[in-house]
Amino acid sequence: MSDQPLATAHAQVLATRASGAVPVVTTFFDEATFTATHVVHDPATLRAAIIDPVLDFDQASGRTSRVSADKVIAHVEAEGLTVDWLLETHAHADHLSAAPHLKERLGGQIVIGAAIRTVQEVFGKVFNEGPAFARNGSQFDLLMDDGHAFSVGGIEAIALHVPGHTPACLAFVIGDAVFVGDTLFMPDYGTARADFPGGDARTLYRSIRRLMALPDETRVFLCHDYKATGRDQFVWETTIGAQRTANVHVHEGVGEDQFVAMREARDATLGMPKLILPSIQVNMRAGHLPEPDSNGVRYLRLPVDLL
Ligand SMILES: [Fe+2]
Repeated sequence: MSDQPLATAHAQVLATRASGAVPVVTTFFDEATFTATHVVHDPATLRAAIIDPVLDFDQASGRTSRVSADKVIAHVEAEGLTVDWLLETHAHADHLSAAPHLKERLGGQIVIGAAIRTVQEVFGKVFNEGPAFARNGSQFDLLMDDGHAFSVGGIEAIALHVPGHTPACLAFVIGDAVFVGDTLFMPDYGTARADFPGGDARTLYRSIRRLMALPDETRVFLCHDYKATGRDQFVWETTIGAQRTANVHVHEGVGEDQFVAMREARDATLGMPKLILPSIQVNMRAGHLPEPDSNGVRYLRLPVDLL
């Protein structure tokens, strides 16, 4: 079976490395949610993409803050970058997105996978959203399907649909770097869970095998790191070669059934992420809070005994 998007991404990585015109990646790590936000830019044109930006949220008080996002803005301004893209690898369940704040301050189009419509259907029901909540992805500026080609300045990029953790997950291959979202973690930590509504361990395995078909030298940037046992620093960059040979859950030689059994057993032991309910309500709206109530205050809902 031909896989044209993967073949295109593979060729793009090799061509980028041969040319030496690789994108610059600067990462901001949020220790409160273990999230890596990446700013990717083309050093020749200073055009940039921001991937998975974080809006700080204190659950106890219900307060948002922009401390993390403002660090990203300061970097963009200091480097003189022009932001074209605000890319979400998926609708995150562990942090709120700062994409609307960054768009207002820096510009750029907010992008997510086209299957966000499925996520909106599922969670529209969970939160009993009325007809005012559109389930067609229209809150985002652009929905990308598998193989969607774009560019960051003069650097070619392509989206790969890598479902399993969620139905809408995308990996973005930008030059010689792939931003894998929640598919793979560091090789010593393994893989993302696949038990959220719409998730599937078998589908995740197939998506990971697809990513592992990229060239070994492809730089891999993660969305999260949780410090594996025995490691005392956060790390968010590795390579496809390292993942292929050493990922503790899914290195070469681990079969699909073996992976699914491991993943499902492990997922059964995991609690819900602390911020899943606020995060999903906001992120399924492209990072916008729900409309204010009649008193002008915005509210987030908690379904009781549902999840
Ligand atoms: Fe996630």
